Amino acid sequence: MIVEPKVRGFICTTAHPAGCRENVRQQIAYVKSQPGTQGPSRVLVLGSSTGYGLSSRIAAAFGCGAATLGVMYEKPSVKNRTASAGWYNTAAFEQFAQEAGLYAKTINGDAFSREIKEQVIETIRRDWGTVDCVIYSLAAPRRTAPDGVTYNSVLKTTGSDYTNKTIDLKTRTVFQVTIGPATQQEIDDTVRVMGGEDWMDWMKALSDAGVLAQKVITCAYSYLGPQLTHPVYLNGSIGMAKRHLHRTAQEITQAFPQVSAYISVNKALVTQSSAAIPIVPLYISILYRVMKEKNLHEGCIQQMYRLFHDRLFAEPVPVDGEGRIRLDDWEMREDVQVEVAGIWETISTQTVQDAADIDGYWEDFYQMFGFSVPGVDYSAQVDPVVPVPSIEE
Ligand code: NAI
Repeated sequence: MIVEPKVRGFICTTAHPAGCRENVRQQIAYVKSQPGTQGPSRVLVLGSSTGYGLSSRIAAAFGCGAATLGVMYEKPSVKNRTASAGWYNTAAFEQFAQEAGLYAKTINGDAFSREIKEQVIETIRRDWGTVDCVIYSLAAPRRTAPDGVTYNSVLKTTGSDYTNKTIDLKTRTVFQVTIGPATQQEIDDTVRVMGGEDWMDWMKALSDAGVLAQKVITCAYSYLGPQLTHPVYLNGSIGMAKRHLHRTAQEITQAFPQVSAYISVNKALVTQSSAAIPIVPLYISILYRVMKEKNLHEGCIQQMYRLFHDRLFAEPVPVDGEGRIRLDDWEMREDVQVEVAGIWETISTQTVQDAADIDGYWEDFYQMFGFSVPGVDYSAQVDPVVPVPSIEE
């Protein structure tokens, strides 16, 4: 079939298998063009199919030569529907890994569940014995916790309303939006979904099963961002969850003597998760313009290569005053933020086309689903059914 993008709100409901494969190939090529990394050898990536998790897996495998076990929640193709982008990414990743002689297996299911934790432990025990690196890169709107209750996360402020500019990316109009405060219940529920509880559950389960190596590094991802996004991010409901995640890193390091747990604060990028946050897409579009002009722009793979090559396995691991790894160093550079803030002040529907990189935003958006990828022939027929080598359907 010929696959075309079908955009609905913040997502695209189709994905292009050849485009996703080409994306993965390009990320691998980037990592292979850089100096190799003395890093981990057996890496578990939770949330391995898109965004930062996929790039972490590629940096670990092709930068460090590591065996990788991924966990994702993706859909294979059914009837005439395409699979999800994460499915195609993973199919391509495993094929490239196999060709390179690298171990790569993936488990598709709910990472929050006990069942998937057991499957992962079983696989580690059988294939590896132990794991020496655990990347926690889940981004999910809801979580069914071990108590059987399903909690939903919200993207709201805490305390009071916040009004600022936002963009309708489709019509390219800039307008004021007011984001209302979350109730205490909504904040608590968001913490249950995006906080550190499940990360701790994973580390406990791996420790109890005796599959942690003598020295283990684990890392989860967070975001801080500039003042203008603080009410909706850092001090919003998601920020409360991230604070919990930060505390969990300290708790994990204290609870398991062989484990060092880190938070890496990453750059704001277009991913399936960040597109849903109000105000942030306008900020990202301005940031892209400023960072591209200054030759500082990075995508997920450049960020994750830096994480593996320069940070997570350096001795000592370079961290800020609060113990966090900072990959948002270039985003938060003073000259970048001063320029972004200046543009933010005056941006309007009339100026947005020049003042922000909306085309760059859309390019990244489409590319996440395998569209608009240079070098792909979109007029060619493709088979939507693509197997992930390690997954039996
Ligand atoms: P993403 O949406 O691209 O990736 C999420 C991953 O989690 C996918 O592999 C998906 O299959 C998996 N997943 C979701 N629910 C699952 C479940 N129940 N079971 C198993 N797998 C599941 O998200 P993105 O943006 O890469 O986010 C990853 C982390 O990075 C998050 O903690 C996010 O807050 C953080 N981050 C993101 C930034 C951004 O600008 N996108 C900036 C800084 C941090």
